[in-house]
Amino acid sequence: MVRKIDEMTITDAVIDQMSGTPDPRFKEIMTALVRHLHDFAREVDLTAEEWLGAIRFLTAVGQKCTPHRQEFVLLSDTLGLSSLVNALHDKRASDPATKSSLLGPFYRQDAPMKKLGESIISESQGPEVVFYGRVTNAAGEGVPNALVQVWEPDETGNYDLQKHDPSVMDLRGCFHADSEGRYYFRGICPTGYMIPMDGPVGDMIRAQKRHGYRPAHIHFIVSAPGYRELVTALYVAGDEHIDSDTVFGVSDTLVISVNEKDPHSPIPNLPTIHYDFKLAAAAKSAAMSGRVGVDPSQILQKAH
Ligand code: BEZ
Ligand code: FE
Repeated sequence: MVRKIDEMTITDAVIDQMSGTPDPRFKEIMTALVRHLHDFAREVDLTAEEWLGAIRFLTAVGQKCTPHRQEFVLLSDTLGLSSLVNALHDKRASDPATKSSLLGPFYRQDAPMKKLGESIISESQGPEVVFYGRVTNAAGEGVPNALVQVWEPDETGNYDLQKHDPSVMDLRGCFHADSEGRYYFRGICPTGYMIPMDGPVGDMIRAQKRHGYRPAHIHFIVSAPGYRELVTALYVAGDEHIDSDTVFGVSDTLVISVNEKDPHSPIPNLPTIHYDFKLAAAAKSAAMSGRVGVDPSQILQKAH
């Protein structure tokens, strides 16, 4: 007997046809995806015209992608999916640790190695600030020699890659913490900016009357052998977009303030931003560790 396919039975028909999938995780993901996708279409009573609009939109998102521009990641960011995946990643940690935040599209692996106390400023003119703190384990003990990678936008809200030739490095650096896990360096007071709005994701943001801004922030990747890599960012209290980040990267524990007169500053006579990072122990399986977020240039290279 031929199966009766209608707007309700179609879901089980698809799930039954996929039931021989050998990889159990792939089967679980695809089964749930089909169930939720069909429920979504039924809930909104999706029309053929709207379906075509979505196909056109996703096609434009793909066409906007290059090795240096990932419009699909931006779509995931603006729908809150990237931050949701980060929150799920944080929940899987074996110890309480600093929360993750979006890697974003402007990370570069080749930032210069610097000595503690050095400045990451080469081109920009923003007001100078000392960033300092400790990298600790869950017990609060310093992680000696932890690697601290940082990058931030300039005083106009642009990253070096957006303004200069790729040979120019500005507002990026890598530091090794000292024997007690302490780090300190000079940079500029963090600024905010609009996410890339010249593609289909920007069209979506405008259609939703969203402002498109990220609050002032500085990015960090903190790592050490035996610990789970931490991809995060610090956000400046009082920024007008602190509670409406277009990509949902801010959580309360990542908000910092600038201290104009800090008696504990490792470099005197400059405002400071102080933050201690806590790392969780490395997970046993790779699936439980791994980087949160991706460098756009690596997406096209990895074909698994
Ligand atoms: C960023 O902070 O660099 C960023 C994150 C997500 C989308 C756009 C920019
Ligand atoms: Fe950023």
